[in-house]
Amino acid sequence: MRGSDARSLIAAARRARRHARAAYSGFKVGAALQTPDGTVITGCNIENATYGLTICAERVAMFKALSEGHRRFTHIAIVADTAAPTPPCGPCRQILWEFGGDLEVILANLRRETGRHALSELLPLPFDDRLLK
Ligand code: THU
Repeated sequence: MRGSDARSLIAAARRARRHARAAYSGFKVGAALQTPDGTVITGCNIENATYGLTICAERVAMFKALSEGHRRFTHIAIVADTAAPTPPCGPCRQILWEFGGDLEVILANLRRETGRHALSELLPLPFDDRLLK
């Protein structure tokens, strides 16, 4: 992805992060998924009083996108306020892989991009529907 396109996807994830409901951890995350036609669907993490029902920003973005009829994705930007890259957790890697395939994952904080990875690099040897056939 070109630098300027990556910057605008990161900007969308930063904006989404502002809506995070992170009253328990204080750790706000934003995500922005891009489709092949350039549509961007965002998400933020949403925590609640049971803690365990927390949904990460990446899954909120993916479930929103799927529920709105989007089926193919090319990139996801993920933003947290950390100096080190904040990569997606294990469950999010699984969901992103199953519904997004080998996305380019762009990590960033509030100031700069902190890393880029193919999802297949973050989730080697995945379990998916190919094994169910
Ligand atoms: N979180 C995300 O939303 N995405 C990540 O990639 C890492 C973790 C959220 C879950 C929880 O609300 C908070 O960050 C602390 O784990």
